Amino acid sequence: MSTPTPASLRAAFGLEGQVAVVTGASSGLGRACALALGAAGCTVVVNHLEAMAADGEAVAAEIEAAGGKAMPFVADVSDEAEVEAMFKETVRRFGTVHVLVNNAGIQRGAKFQDMTLAAWRAVLDVNLTGQFLCARSAVREFLRRGPEPDVSPSLGRIVCMSSVHQTIPWAFEVNYAASKGGVMLLMQSMAQELATARIRVNAVAPGAIRTPINHDAWATPEALTELLKLMPYGRIGEPPDIAHAVLFLASDLSDYMTGTTVFVDGGMSLYPSFRGAG
Ligand code: NAI
Ligand code: BGC
Repeated sequence: MSTPTPASLRAAFGLEGQVAVVTGASSGLGRACALALGAAGCTVVVNHLEAMAADGEAVAAEIEAAGGKAMPFVADVSDEAEVEAMFKETVRRFGTVHVLVNNAGIQRGAKFQDMTLAAWRAVLDVNLTGQFLCARSAVREFLRRGPEPDVSPSLGRIVCMSSVHQTIPWAFEVNYAASKGGVMLLMQSMAQELATARIRVNAVAPGAIRTPINHDAWATPEALTELLKLMPYGRIGEPPDIAHAVLFLASDLSDYMTGTTVFVDGGMSLYPSFRGAG
């Protein structure tokens, strides 16, 4: 799909010169968000796992090659000390943080009766605790820095990557669905508590988007045909579909929005199996 040019992004979103941290930015949706924020003029901290160093560094290099500013940073979002070190280094190098995209996430599916405690904990640790730890560090920095009326009417913005599975139950992925249901109430509760401090917290809930996390669901024509039955709009999502919604929520164009989930799912959450039935 077509991606807006950097010039149009800069003009449209007013994010030039702001600092954004994107977690899990070495692939998929995080990569797309990092590239879009970089094109919109943000300095982007490209968070990635040690094991994804080559990919994380490539994303940062791509942002810089397009005329932007980026820093790759290794941190496991479920590790308190590593998250705190990432924000400390971001503030030391770039002065502050304006935007957090809480994106890193994993799936470890299994039949319910076979799901190990390790698989349960791994998913909750990354998808939910990781979002809590990064959001807490971001909020501490927003409050420390204080208002910058020339930059934004808000103190800072957090965009949580949720999923249609924050509301759609998901057999064989109960740890994942529970984590995204948790993200929804984490996001809403933070938004309620922090609105008086003029910190905005929102979420994007993607449907099925073509990334490594769901490779098996789209990699063969047969799998894609099955998947498309769940999508009234008739196509799989692509990472820029999500990055564009994230850009909007990260910018002041959405200044009166907080505690909201924007579903970007081609209609997946519209009970498509009810078409012609019921
Ligand atoms: P992906 O697998 O390409 O991206 C996940 C990224 O998170 C990877 O780069 C991975 O290295 C990183 N990561 C994993 N554990 C980490 C940790 N402990 N610390 C830091 N980074 C870590 O898959 P995708 O699709 O880009 O996933 C991104 C987010 O989007 C996830 O939260 C996922 O749940 C969510 N999502 C994806 C959908 C899709 O259809 N692709 C739909 C709905 C939500
Ligand atoms: C999952 C994907 C899945 C999509 C739609 C996402 O949260 O990570 O694997 O394709 O939801 O079911």
